[in-house]
Amino acid sequence: MRNPLTTAMAASAFAAALIASGNARAVTKTIALPPDGVQLTASPLPGYAKAQTNCVACHSAEYMLYQPPNAARPYWEAMVKRMKAVFKAPLDDSDIPDIVDYLARTYGNEKGK
Ligand code: HEC
Repeated sequence: MRNPLTTAMAASAFAAALIASGNARAVTKTIALPPDGVQLTASPLPGYAKAQTNCVACHSAEYMLYQPPNAARPYWEAMVKRMKAVFKAPLDDSDIPDIVDYLARTYGNEKGK
């Protein structure tokens, strides 16, 4: 029959080894970020560059694609203003009209106009 004290010591040594190997694994872990594939749709409109600067720092351009394609200009304007007011998007007020113009004509009901 085994000595219970020896068994307990062996168990704690085993636990220590587990913790040590757990740490070793953590050191070699790599973090795979999900691909951030969706870019803003290219456009000659001045709002395109402004949207690239102001609208994809917090989320990808995928968010624009999820908006209703019949969304009119006031919808986009409200969206841009909400980003600024609610989420503190560092937007210059003077850039808002160009960005709204770009969004309405690229993703909204003025597409192709
Ligand atoms: C400071 C960070 C930040 C910036 C900059 C930002 N957004 Fe957002 N945006 C968010 C967050 C957070 C959400 C998610 C909100 C939610 O789930 O309701 C969001 C959601 C959205 C959505 C999805 C619709 C919705 O109601 O959730 C759209 C469209 C959008 N943003 C457009 C824009 C545009 C256009 C700009 C540039 C003018 C912009 N965002 C800049 C933080 C930001």
